[in-house]
Amino acid sequence: MAAKRRERRVVMVTGASSGIGRATALAFARNGDDVVLAARSPGALDLTAAECRSLGARVRVEPVDVNDAPALRRLAGSGDRIDVWVHTAAVMAYGRFEELPADVFEQVVRTDLLGAAAVARAALARFRAQRSGVLILGGSVLSFIAAPYMSAYITSKWGLRGLARVLQQETRDAPDIHVCLIDPGGVDTPIYRSAANYTGRVGRPPPPVDRPAKVASAIVGLAARPRRARSVGLANRFMRIGFAALPPVYDLLVGPLMRRAGLSRDPVGAHTGNVFAPLPRG
Ligand SMILES: NC(=O)c1ccc[n+]([C@@H]2O[C@H](COP(=O)([O-])OP(=O)(O)OC[C@H]3O[C@@H](n4cnc5c(N)ncnc54)[C@H](OP(=O)(O)O)[C@@H]3O)[C@@H](O)[C@H]2O)c1
Repeated sequence: MAAKRRERRVVMVTGASSGIGRATALAFARNGDDVVLAARSPGALDLTAAECRSLGARVRVEPVDVNDAPALRRLAGSGDRIDVWVHTAAVMAYGRFEELPADVFEQVVRTDLLGAAAVARAALARFRAQRSGVLILGGSVLSFIAAPYMSAYITSKWGLRGLARVLQQETRDAPDIHVCLIDPGGVDTPIYRSAANYTGRVGRPPPPVDRPAKVASAIVGLAARPRRARSVGLANRFMRIGFAALPPVYDLLVGPLMRRAGLSRDPVGAHTGNVFAPLPRG
């Protein structure tokens, strides 16, 4: 007897124009699903869309800023259904907390924490109406540990982990609605160069560095078999154990390690990167 063909799912990706979100859209397209691609840059979304279409997916492009709650609500209400919503949109800022302009700190937290909350609110409203859906939120190993020069990002990622845990508890009444957190370590994406920067040196992912496709494949796996959290990155477990078990040693080492491995030697003037508006591609 021929195997029953699985139905095509509709997968929303907020943050689909770059990095892990782009790789995730491609992975779902390759998997036989249809994708809705959202981020701020229409041009970059169109490029992801063309690649997804070449893999056989039906694609919709929906330029949106996650700080625009009404636009997110419209997005959540559009189309026949949304089976999976992957939220990877985020921005980053490097700099000592005291040297980071307050408006940059606040915009990173607004985008990475409050934007993610707005996405969760819109997605869960849609999932409640459908009685099903999987929401996958983009956490980080930095949702569990701290490192200097990344205060706004780490504040947001710790907050997002708390939010994800609460949502997991509050959706227990809906057995077919799931909320998951994906926690990558270092991944080779444009976020390090497009981050706002007040350190004088360009950021880079500390090793070991994974490819976005590896995280995307873990996300596709989470959508099929949802669980509370999934970590991707060989060193994540060791960093978390060191942070929790030996705080004085961790704090002694993390500054020098961050300056050596997390910041390159390339000089850069103070700039706001893509925090307030997307950067032109390239
Ligand atoms: N790369 C890593 O090493 C790493 C490690 C751990 C966790 N993560 C997490 O993984 C996720 C993806 O990061 P990435 O490295 O793939 O970054 P990326 O390549 O910079 O992609 C970020 C995406 O977010 C979108 N975005 C930013 N601000 C937005 C806004 N206000 N509204 C809508 N979309 C917005 C960007 O597109 P536009 O600029 O066009 O809006 C882009 O599509 C993030 O949550 C990040 O924190 C990354």
